[in-house]
Amino acid sequence: MGLTAKEHSPGVYFIGGGEQRLLATRNLTPGRKVYGEELIVIENIEYRLWNPSRSKLGAAIAKGLKHNPIVPGSKVLYLGVASGTTCSHVSDIIGNLGHVWGVDFAPRPIRDLIDHVARYRMNISPIFGDARQPREYSLQVPMVEVLFADVAQPDQAEIVVKNANIFLKKGGYAMFSIKSRSIDVGRDPVEIFSEQVKVLVARGFSVEELIELDPFEKDHALALASLV
Ligand SMILES: C[S@@+](CC[C@H](N)C(=O)[O-])C[C@H]1O[C@@H](n2cnc3c(N)ncnc32)[C@H](O)[C@@H]1O
Repeated sequence: MGLTAKEHSPGVYFIGGGEQRLLATRNLTPGRKVYGEELIVIENIEYRLWNPSRSKLGAAIAKGLKHNPIVPGSKVLYLGVASGTTCSHVSDIIGNLGHVWGVDFAPRPIRDLIDHVARYRMNISPIFGDARQPREYSLQVPMVEVLFADVAQPDQAEIVVKNANIFLKKGGYAMFSIKSRSIDVGRDPVEIFSEQVKVLVARGFSVEELIELDPFEKDHALALASLV
């Protein structure tokens, strides 16, 4: 049986044939891979397979995220962009009418992001900076519709709020991963997830979804909240 691509949400696809159902995005840079992922052409369109074990956003979609606010044309601030594995799929989804500003404070991954990913994708602006000090990059980043955070820090929710105060449009969305073990190894992950989410609720966010990422990422969840 031939492969087909079925749209999950704007710009995100499930590629299937028989029993298989693989997550993918349409490649903005045909012929070019980012992290060794497979490229598949269906009806003259090239897709890049999206490995949910390498990406918390990918894992959340594979686990049934109902609403993905990152769509074609979105402006996204991405905290903890690293070398761009997930960011490259965000770049595919938003396309050339969208833009993603990716912040990381580790020099090596930012250099890899510049040399191997952003150089070929005009919709990514890498920023070498500390997400705890958003004023430092406030001149480089405009107001955005989506704030995505994957910094794996115990004060992740506070970092999201600090950045949202400066960059997130009213009606915009925050998506952030919560790694319970980076907060407290001894406690029940579900308790930690709801505590982190409360930090956003206190700032005026309404939580839409909280998806646990097992088995792709153990003890991780991804929260989606809107700024009402
Ligand atoms: C789990 S990795 C991110 C993986 C990436 N989001 C992906 O899916 O491809 C976490 C990243 O957050 C970065 N990070 C942690 N704390 C940070 C901070 N305060 N400011 C900026 N980056 C930070 C680390 O350097 C690391 O690259």
